[in-house]
Amino acid sequence: MTIKAVVFDAYGTLYDIQSVATVTEQAFPGYGDIITQVWRLKQLEYTWLRSLMRRYEDFSVITRESLAFTLRGLGLGYDREAFERIMDKYVQLDLYPDAKAALTALKGRKLAILSNGSTDMLNALVRNTGLDQVLDATISVDQQRVFKPAPEAYSLVESRLGIGPSEVLFVSSNPFDVCGAKSFGFNVAWIERVTPAALASALVDLDAIAPLTLFKMLRTQMDELGVAPDHRVGALSELPALVAS
Ligand code: LAC
Repeated sequence: MTIKAVVFDAYGTLYDIQSVATVTEQAFPGYGDIITQVWRLKQLEYTWLRSLMRRYEDFSVITRESLAFTLRGLGLGYDREAFERIMDKYVQLDLYPDAKAALTALKGRKLAILSNGSTDMLNALVRNTGLDQVLDATISVDQQRVFKPAPEAYSLVESRLGIGPSEVLFVSSNPFDVCGAKSFGFNVAWIERVTPAALASALVDLDAIAPLTLFKMLRTQMDELGVAPDHRVGALSELPALVAS
């Protein structure tokens, strides 16, 4: 394949969204896991609901509203300071350990992020983690005011980079995003972070499923949406060889 651009999803793909668990646990001891999982589930749900309702608000608003929903639902009281401390982690998320090396090894092609994140959130995150030095562009769906997996969101890659879908490799760990990107027309690599075998071994005790295990079942296994990725890899570190092949 001739790949001129490699375009990455941000949250869950280059950045470990589970890393918010350290701050949610600090703020609410014993609740870190459930807050982390419900927050992310609800956050994505709100992107789809707002897109369908045609009531777009950017991802920072959605992230705040889904956190507020989560804390209220769990019956947890909080002050503004605690709320802001949790929110602040979104611009300080941990990179997956192999992210920087993989991006560096892919140099020579255009490298970009296409994310549901708002322009401000993404720019701060990319700067705080040093990815501004390796990326050619950080593209937010903000310009289209609709979230992935809407085709209008993916179309921003061509308008920003000037490279058509057939010459783009889109990389995501999020199954909904993989399906959306493939349906749009990109070549797609899915980072399969949780294999069915690993999930099965966590599901043995059905009476004691941890929130993280439920999250993995719902949001890391390939969806039944009638499209499949072109490539399935276990980690970002496998991408340079894949693109070179
Ligand atoms: C993103 C979300 C979908 O970065 O993970 O766009």
